[in-house]
Amino acid sequence: MSTETERKLGSLLKTTQESGSSSSSTSAVHDQQDRTATLGLKRPDSASKLPDSLEKEKFSAAHKERQEKLKATESVKALQAFREKLPAFRMKEGFLKSVSENQVLVVSGETGCGKTTQLPQFILEEEISSLRGADCNIICTQPRRISAISVASRISAERGEPIGESVGYQIRLESKRSDQTRLLFCTTGVLLRRLIEDPNLTNVSHLLVDEIHERGMNEDFLLIILRDLLPRRPDLRLILMSATINADMFSTYFGNAPTMHIPGFTFPVAELFLEDVLEKSRYSIKSSDSGNYQGNSRGRRRDSESKKDDLTTLFEEIDINVHYKSYSSATRLSLEAWSGAQIDVDLVEATLEHICRHEGDGAILVFLTGWDEISKLLEKINGNRLLGDSSKFLILPLHGSMPTVNQREIFDRPPPNKRKIVLATNIAESSITIDDVVYVVDCGKAKETSYDALNKVACLLPSWISKASAHQRRGRAGRVQAGVCYRLYPKVIYDSFPQYQLPEIIRTPLQELCLHIKSLQVGSIGSFLAKALQPPDALAVENAIELLKTIGALDDIEDLTPLGRHLCTLPVDPNIGKMLLIGAIFQCVNPALTIAAALAYRSPFVLPLNRKEEADDAKRYFAGDSCSDHIALLKAYEGYRDAKRGGNEKDFCWQNFLSPVTLRMMEDMRNQFLDLLSDIGFVDKSRPSAYNQYSQDMEMVSAVLCAGLYPNVVQCKRRGKRTAFYTKELGKVDIHPGSVNARVNLFSLPYLVYSEKVKTTSVYIRDSTNISDYALLMFGGNLIPSKTGEGIEMLGGYLHFSASKNVLELIQRLRGEVDKLLNKK
Ligand code: CDP
Ligand code: MG
Repeated sequence: MSTETERKLGSLLKTTQESGSSSSSTSAVHDQQDRTATLGLKRPDSASKLPDSLEKEKFSAAHKERQEKLKATESVKALQAFREKLPAFRMKEGFLKSVSENQVLVVSGETGCGKTTQLPQFILEEEISSLRGADCNIICTQPRRISAISVASRISAERGEPIGESVGYQIRLESKRSDQTRLLFCTTGVLLRRLIEDPNLTNVSHLLVDEIHERGMNEDFLLIILRDLLPRRPDLRLILMSATINADMFSTYFGNAPTMHIPGFTFPVAELFLEDVLEKSRYSIKSSDSGNYQGNSRGRRRDSESKKDDLTTLFEEIDINVHYKSYSSATRLSLEAWSGAQIDVDLVEATLEHICRHEGDGAILVFLTGWDEISKLLEKINGNRLLGDSSKFLILPLHGSMPTVNQREIFDRPPPNKRKIVLATNIAESSITIDDVVYVVDCGKAKETSYDALNKVACLLPSWISKASAHQRRGRAGRVQAGVCYRLYPKVIYDSFPQYQLPEIIRTPLQELCLHIKSLQVGSIGSFLAKALQPPDALAVENAIELLKTIGALDDIEDLTPLGRHLCTLPVDPNIGKMLLIGAIFQCVNPALTIAAALAYRSPFVLPLNRKEEADDAKRYFAGDSCSDHIALLKAYEGYRDAKRGGNEKDFCWQNFLSPVTLRMMEDMRNQFLDLLSDIGFVDKSRPSAYNQYSQDMEMVSAVLCAGLYPNVVQCKRRGKRTAFYTKELGKVDIHPGSVNARVNLFSLPYLVYSEKVKTTSVYIRDSTNISDYALLMFGGNLIPSKTGEGIEMLGGYLHFSASKNVLELIQRLRGEVDKLLNKK
């Protein structure tokens, strides 16, 4: 092995030297202005362009005149009437008064009451009518890209303007705005990046931070920065918007800022807990006894057969009564005792049957925890006598990674005489609104990510939702008429739900956030995060800092290294950023761009209904004999690019279970990454053949993956009778069943590098790639020369390796070279 390794290492050294010379000739273009331009963050209104008072008047007058004209058009009139019916409309005067009198205002109000579309618009209208229109610069942040676009276009329509005039949006890689734009919707991430260049938010007059109740990490992070910024910008107005009435916490955080509540809007929704559902079903037995089934001959026939499929009987059959008795008799029963239990799909099926037999028309929305349950329930429904009748029911799953074709039907009204039943995860809770829902079936659980700081692993497990989520789910049933919410858990369980879900900042790994904090130059990471609304666990912060040190982004005193500074310019997880830089150094940029885009955004592989096996086969086909999920992604993307050149990318995606939307997004992200790599002097964009010299060499690609994703490496080991992968912190880990490596003989996978490990029912490594021993030697951890034994042994994060002095020296030299290149200024 030694000579072979030596040969390969020698050729690697040559590559690093070539790479060093080629990129030094391009020299770093680390100009702040250019970086801002790449991120699309150029300020629209530089101070020099501020209009004088005459022009301000002209601006406002022109706006007013246009608005008067537009108000006459039918569509704007109709929308204006709609606006005036929204609960927010009644609060307009009070809201504007509060904004003018206070620096910070916290507004709460139920989803749909008009916070997002109306409040920023009120400010805009007020500014224009008071002749300050030309000066104002209102920004409203949204946690999701999709809402930034849809809200901006909705408001433009309400104003009768094309999008991008006075109202625009900006999200990563996409914007619609102009010199006229005075109200800009952007993602919270875009604003955070702007803060690196413009820490005082110069020229911003009003900032609205939306959906703060969700307690997303970016929003919590932004609030820390803003609280520090407000004293420096006394003229800046900050408005925080929340869908739940937990305004007090935010008000306290901002020195008892005033709060304002917009009273409700939805139709009443009856709430049934498991015990009520049971009561209701007893009632149905009585009514069925008297032959009073709602509906048709089917019901009556059933009546004479037996009552076997009546709801209560079903409950008994599936043991739910036993469950029920145990929960009601033991009020002290701890939540944990139940949190592991799977959702009972039989119970959901029985409830659906009950609604369809006994309740009036209207769509049903079922909240489940994930794909497994959705497909189990689908299978049940297909075999169900009543619900399986596709002439009467339109059953639609709704899940984050589904093909979008299936998703569109969700919003449409079903054909007449058909009942729509949507089986959804908690994405239907607030981000997606289905208007015609009348019945909600809530299983009370959601898959929640959490971070186990002790074992350094992200967990994704079903757990009970919060009272706030339960309330939100119920509200989904009352948008068009009065509705009913069936909660498939007893009231005692509901009573023990936490009021709110834990904020994301204490549920996620923090390395990207910590790197961002360093780039803002706001002091030490620890003391900055201690100022958060709910500060993250000290151990989680420590882990993040340790990881950043391991990958070389921070030095011993927690200062950014030149590598760390490069990583700050790449808007991705630091490991993925490092993989991009290594890809540039080893001249296989295209594969690095593709894999980074997929890891940073999402996998282009979709979960089609009932065809999971075929989809898995397609993925394996792309992987070929590489034993790599990452190479499968890469080959799928390359196939898509070829198909696109031939004009048949649609068919290609359809046949291979790929999402064209994700692939297009990946294309854009690749371009952005390439621009950024060029800005920081890692690639010379004019020489693609140079930076792609080794792009076809999959062994090189897997070495780049190892260098980027380290310390995420595992070795296959035999312990007793068992052969498995072991990590330093967690012991045994399994390959995720969705991986192309899931069915491969473990002996042919001596070492794997992976992008993510997740604890669900067991600890799984998600996407993985088989790597060769020379890649491991180069990038897989510190070496400890061992005198005995053969090959490499990973032990406690170190590589024990027996080799000649020459080989060891060569490896150290190579590592030094790579380090130098990563840290060039
Ligand atoms: O922010 P909040 O949830 O309070 O409400 P909003 O987003 O301002 O929406 C107010 C109303 O406008 C909703 O009830 C929707 O019916 C409507 N709307 C719409 O039709 N299309 C949009 N893209 C956004 C809102
Ligand atoms: Mg909103």
